Amino acid sequence: MKIKNLITYISFLLISSIVSIAPLYAQEDATGVVKERMNKFKISKKMMQTIHKSIQNEDFGTIEESATTLYNWSKEMIKYFPEGSDVPPSEASADIWLNPEGFKKAVNNFELASLKLINNSKEKDFDNSVDAFRSLAGTCKGCHQKFRN
Ligand code: HEC
Repeated sequence: MKIKNLITYISFLLISSIVSIAPLYAQEDATGVVKERMNKFKISKKMMQTIHKSIQNEDFGTIEESATTLYNWSKEMIKYFPEGSDVPPSEASADIWLNPEGFKKAVNNFELASLKLINNSKEKDFDNSVDAFRSLAGTCKGCHQKFRN
């Protein structure tokens, strides 16, 4: 019967479209921009722990490497905060978009501080590396106080 074939065909189409869309939504859940930036920040925390240890060991190569990871993150951080991405479970404050200049400045402070640590570790300057590490940690905290709930 023709009509039956048509119904079968339509339901086939519906099912295949659901099946092909479903992985997209699932992926949104698992690797959405919020999850991606949370991962980046988790890595940031690890980098800071690594730098802390490496300062004690005067391992300037590792300091430079970790600071470079942070610097690269600073250069792309803004992209990870599209407007309206402050939905739970995100802890991003709506102030990021209410005060975009302030947020950019906080990102910029972070960028400059990581760059300073890169340069000081290249020079294998212990005291300046410690100072730069402290300022860098200050830029994490500074942004969290303003822009993280
Ligand atoms: C310019 C702003 C800014 C800077 C700089 C910044 N953070 Fe964050 N951080 C945030 C925001 C906003 C969130 C919340 C993100 C979310 O939940 O969507 C966050 C979240 C986090 C989290 C929680 C991640 C999770 O799993 O939920 C950690 C850990 C973290 N940051 C560590 C750091 C460290 C360490 C640094 C410095 C090396 C740093 N952050 C620098 C804004 C910043």
